[in-house]
Amino acid sequence: PKIAALIPAAGSGTRLGRGPKAFVEVGGLSLLARSVVCLSPYVDEVLVALPAGMQLPNGMQARAIAGGDTRQASVLALLQATDADVVLIHDAARPFLPTRVIREVADAAWAVGAATAALPVADTLVQAKENTDWGTLTPREGLWAVQTPQGFRRTALLAAHESAQQEGHAATDDAGLIARLGQRVALIPGDARLFKVTTPGDLALAEAVAAVWDG
Ligand code: C5P
Repeated sequence: PKIAALIPAAGSGTRLGRGPKAFVEVGGLSLLARSVVCLSPYVDEVLVALPAGMQLPNGMQARAIAGGDTRQASVLALLQATDADVVLIHDAARPFLPTRVIREVADAAWAVGAATAALPVADTLVQAKENTDWGTLTPREGLWAVQTPQGFRRTALLAAHESAQQEGHAATDDAGLIARLGQRVALIPGDARLFKVTTPGDLALAEAVAAVWDG
């Protein structure tokens, strides 16, 4: 199958406070460039949704389109810009993609229809009370934290996005849109290094991973 990597990178990154997050550098390379370098050996094309008015840096092995007002709108625009059989959706905010995860997500996407990287939750979970106090303990058995990449047969994800848009259903996650329609999503063991860079603390962690990163 023809495979495309689709990278929504049109967010403003306000929680990081360093301008558009995809262009923040760790270890001398932008978060976006790191995702592109990891993905491009395993796909036929890389498409990136950028904030309006921004362009890809010279030499990046990817094609750019303008993103939308939400992540969901950016992903829909990316889906409409490719004819690939399989799409790997990956957040630019997760700069370290192990080869094993890319391969397993892509294979399962084609075989099952949809697949996502995810990790079993290791911490104790508690529902807070008033957002300041311990409320209710939530058993973590069977709970997984969802990461990206997420892989799909393109026509299935496009149909799911179009029906979500028509119904005004907002989603932060693509696999969730497929599951919502009763279709199967395979969970592929992810990797701790696939964490999302959101806060300044995450940036410090990313600098440390960059120093030892070997895919
Ligand atoms: O803000 P957050 O980290 O949850 O965003 C997840 C991903 O979605 C980021 O890679 C961000 O650039 C992307 N995004 C987008 N278009 C938007 C908002 C977010 O492509 N309008």
